[in-house]
Amino acid sequence: MIEILDDKDALAAWAASWVAQRIEASTARFVIALSGGSTPKLFHRILAQDFASLPWDRVDAFVSDERAVPPDDERSNVRMARETLIEPLGANAPTLFVPTGIAEDARRAAHDYEAALLEATSGTGVADVVMLGMGDDGHVASLFPGFEAPFGLVAAVDAPAETVATRRVTFTFEALKRARDVVVLVAGASKAAALHRVIDERDASLPLARVFMDRGGRVTLVTERAAAAQLDPVGVHE
Ligand code: 6PG
Repeated sequence: MIEILDDKDALAAWAASWVAQRIEASTARFVIALSGGSTPKLFHRILAQDFASLPWDRVDAFVSDERAVPPDDERSNVRMARETLIEPLGANAPTLFVPTGIAEDARRAAHDYEAALLEATSGTGVADVVMLGMGDDGHVASLFPGFEAPFGLVAAVDAPAETVATRRVTFTFEALKRARDVVVLVAGASKAAALHRVIDERDASLPLARVFMDRGGRVTLVTERAAAAQLDPVGVHE
């Protein structure tokens, strides 16, 4: 499904309400993977402000990728999740699972994080929702174009050298394939060309296109006018 909103604010509000409904409707523990980048910040803030009374104590939160940086580093996705969602929720916050020791031993960190995901999902690796963003190059989480697809559910990978903090731990294509729902937030004109390649050209060299394919199209893409500017006319996408 593709939802094209007017702007970034509307996108964040739509996504927050979508996720809140899922959490509210769930009867068991709810496992969500949060994405990094800048787009989710407002989405998190809206969740914390407008949906503070949700049963957050039933929610287990992961990050879909993290960099080999100290936890208080501004490039840390965990830090962003803490500042924008966990801390604002105060006592009624989800449990945040944090990958540790990536700089020292990324493979071990990935292995441990995978074990935590498996435990939280009763051994299935099926997260209720995995949130993703898309880079200008079509990457999602830390799955970059031209890089070999890693094995397992969580893997240690290297990002292209020009990106910030190259060593990463990331959810794999397999983890994204298994998730009950995948929600991708894509905002900004710099994403327009890649989004066209993903959606209209189904260009399998772009990781987000692969996620769509792996899941038989079962992806909720939430975008806004600027990022959607190069898409073929609406209606073709439903
Ligand atoms: C990260 C990511 C990454 C991100 C996209 C989009 O850690 O950087 O998880 O895949 O989601 O690059 O980022 P923006 O939201 O900043 O456009």
